[in-house]
Amino acid sequence: MATGLQYFFGIDFGTTNSATVGYVVMDQKTESIQYGDDEGRPIPSVVAIDKTTGDVFTGRTAWDKKMELSESCVYIPSVKTILDSEQTRTIASKEWTAVDIASEVFKQLKANVKKRTGIDMERATVAIPVGFSSTKRIKLRKAAQKAGIDIHSFISEPTAAFFANYNELKSSSVVAIFDWGGGTLDVSIIQHINGKVSELATTGKNIAGDYIDDKIAKRIHAKIARKKGIEIAFTDMPSSAQDMMRVRAERAKRMLGDDDTATISINNYGVYGACRETLEYDWFADIVDPEVTLAMECLDEAIHQSGVGLANIDRIVLVGGSSNLRPLLEKMDKKYGDKLFFPEETMWNVGQGAAMLAMTPGSYYSNQSIGIVLSDNSYYEILKPDTAIQGWSHTCHFGIVDSSKEARFVFGGSPDIDSSPEKYKTLSVPAYRFLQEQIVLQTSIDQNMVFTAVAGSNMRTEEFHRLWEYTQLKCYYKLPGR
Ligand SMILES: Nc1ncnc2c1ncn2[C@@H]1O[C@H](COP(=O)(O)OP(=O)(O)OP(=O)(O)O)[C@@H](O)[C@H]1O
Ligand SMILES: [Mg+2]
Repeated sequence: MATGLQYFFGIDFGTTNSATVGYVVMDQKTESIQYGDDEGRPIPSVVAIDKTTGDVFTGRTAWDKKMELSESCVYIPSVKTILDSEQTRTIASKEWTAVDIASEVFKQLKANVKKRTGIDMERATVAIPVGFSSTKRIKLRKAAQKAGIDIHSFISEPTAAFFANYNELKSSSVVAIFDWGGGTLDVSIIQHINGKVSELATTGKNIAGDYIDDKIAKRIHAKIARKKGIEIAFTDMPSSAQDMMRVRAERAKRMLGDDDTATISINNYGVYGACRETLEYDWFADIVDPEVTLAMECLDEAIHQSGVGLANIDRIVLVGGSSNLRPLLEKMDKKYGDKLFFPEETMWNVGQGAAMLAMTPGSYYSNQSIGIVLSDNSYYEILKPDTAIQGWSHTCHFGIVDSSKEARFVFGGSPDIDSSPEKYKTLSVPAYRFLQEQIVLQTSIDQNMVFTAVAGSNMRTEEFHRLWEYTQLKCYYKLPGR
């Protein structure tokens, strides 16, 4: 008899595609499930909202209908990039915030899980890029909540990718994660010592698959225009025709990974009518060469910034859909040879790692010190390095020693704590200077990894309390059971 079925979910909320991976645990047996679309691919992170009816289309439906929807709908690709926008849009008399739009993608991910397994995905571990701002983290959490998903924990995308390939990478102490997706290239140099994963350096570019598709689409357009003798700029074509060309370009790009030619046909390409073009691999490799070179430079730069030197990088892990680009693989192979590791399912890797960490979570520890710099420049430490930060809070009480009518807290910390701690923020807290008066300083770290300090006199109301939020907290992740 089954003693209970448990599900753990990991979500890679990508710029272009979002992937949900689940682990089902039953009687000590574990099975992993990729919740893809009907073709088994991750779900496009796209939302289309009908301008008159307000109907919402997401995922593969919205992607496939891109051409027909682009006139009737407001089409929002790359939802993740607009997450911190304060703008609202009115579509079919309804106000849409960035959170509302992102929540539609989460709803689709949830519906996909329900369709496949009949299970409600109520909580998940969600992978986010390194340096994803706290505003974006808060908004992503809200968007998931709106869709009925509680974000149990965030995990950085490179850490998730590292963990997904742990068996292969466990003996490596420094690893480069090269994640080239649809919207961004993110390179992280990760140090791994006894299960402690910290990021030594990160670099990135907003040039990835979507940009490449647009570039190829423009070149195919130029070929057609030349052949047919009608000069119209690609950007002057109707938006539906542009979209159609981008979709074809994306498909051709993937085909040229395996084949030396790819043929595209469009029945009705605006004034050009029916078009058919055969694309050669060499032509394609020339077009993407600048982006491939840029991506390789980004990796060099991250290695340089990490200060460890190429000789000490044990493995270079290629993840993300755009890492499949053949011209990239050829160059990488020539330059890095044996160091390269190319996991089998690059598009699912980050989601997979997130799901594994949902099942057996690790914990975050502070990688820095935060304290108060006192008037004699001595340092009173509040948060010590290597402190487990989940649910961390600390309260301290201070008496007033001088005659001022305010208590000043100068927050500071790493890097050089003893001689002169870096100063982050000064809070001036109104006080009465009574003998029995105390200034209470409450500090805590929330689920979005924001360090909050609230200081106030125990004799004054809350409106005289002062707040500081520190969003740049440096942490490392300790893998489970290591
Ligand atoms: N075989 C392939 N060859 C080249 N590019 C590919 C291939 N397969 C997928 N891609 C491209 O990979 C991109 C999507 O990758 P991925 O799903 O990793 O992105 P993402 O995680 O959504 O984006 P990001 O990481 O930027 O947030 C798309 O641009 C897609 O065209
Ligand atoms: Mg990605």
